[in-house]
Amino acid sequence: MSWIKGEEFDFNDFLFTERFHIRQMFGDIGNNHAEDKEYLGNMGIALNHNPIVKWYFMKKCPERAEFIAKISAEFAGEATSEEIKKAEIFIMESCCDVISYANPEWLESNNGWWTMNEWDKARLFELADFSGKIVLDVGSGAGRLAFTAAEKAAWVYASEPVDRLREYMRDKIKRENIKNVRVVDGYVKALPYPDDTFDIVMSAHVVGDEYDLEVAELTRVCKSGGWLLDSPGHGEPSEPLEGEHEIDDNNGLVKRGWEPLSCDRYRKQVIK
Ligand SMILES: C[S@@+](CC[C@H](N)C(=O)[O-])C[C@H]1O[C@@H](n2cnc3c(N)ncnc32)[C@H](O)[C@@H]1O
Repeated sequence: MSWIKGEEFDFNDFLFTERFHIRQMFGDIGNNHAEDKEYLGNMGIALNHNPIVKWYFMKKCPERAEFIAKISAEFAGEATSEEIKKAEIFIMESCCDVISYANPEWLESNNGWWTMNEWDKARLFELADFSGKIVLDVGSGAGRLAFTAAEKAAWVYASEPVDRLREYMRDKIKRENIKNVRVVDGYVKALPYPDDTFDIVMSAHVVGDEYDLEVAELTRVCKSGGWLLDSPGHGEPSEPLEGEHEIDDNNGLVKRGWEPLSCDRYRKQVIK
C-alpha cells in the first residue's frame, strides 16, 4: 500500500535518498524488490529517463551500482512520455517512505496514516511520566513525538538517520527557540550512546524489521527502571483504536513482555 499519490511529487525527490534506503530500494534486506519484475521494469524505464537520479544512486551506494546498471541496461530503449510518467509514479508510490522523507512538511502534516493513528499529545503522555526526564526518540522523522516530549522532559535527543529530516528539525528548533531538543544521527540497531543513558527510549513506527536485535539496543541505552515506549502503527486511520480493536499481537510485543495500552501503543519497563 502506498501512502502518497505519485503524481503530486517529483521524481527528483530521490536526490535526497540516503545510502541505506538505496540499498533497500535495490534488493537489500527488509525488501524483496530484487525479485519483483514489475518494480524492476518500471525502475529501469524511470532511471533511463532520469540519468541524474541514476548517477546519484550509483555514486551514493556503490555496493548496488552494478545491479542498478544492470536493470537500466535491461530496460534501455524507446518509451513514450506517458510510459515514462507511469513508471516514475509507480516507483515513487512503491518507495513512498523515501519520497515522504524528502518532503518533511508533507510528512509532518500527513503522518496520521502510520503512527499513533488519531494522534494527539495526550496519547503519548499517557504512556509515561516525562517530567524532568532524559528522553531518546529513535527514528524521529519530522519530530512529532520528540517535540511533544520536550514540553515536559528535561532533555530530548531526536535520533534520525535521514539528513533532510534532521535539518528540518534543526530549522524548527531555531525558529521556535527550543532549548531542550538535540538532533542526532543514528540507526536503531547501533545507537551512538553508552549503556544506561536514558530514562525513556521511544520509537514510533520504526522498529520491527528485526525486533529482538532492535529492542536489545533500545534496552541497552535505557536505564534500569526506565521505560521503552513503542507505537508500531496499526491499520487505517478510520479503524477504531481503544478497546474495540482487538490487540492481535501481530508484532509479538505482548509475547515479548510489553504492555499494550491500545493496539498502537505499547510500553515496557526496563529492569536490569
Ligand atoms: C514512519 S517514520 C516515523 C517518524 C516518527 N517516529 C513519527 O511517528 O512521526 C519512520 C522514521 O524512522 C526512520 N528510520 C528508518 N530506518 C531507521 C533505522 N534503521 N533506525 C532508525 N530510524 C530509522 C525514518 O528515517 C523515519 O524518519
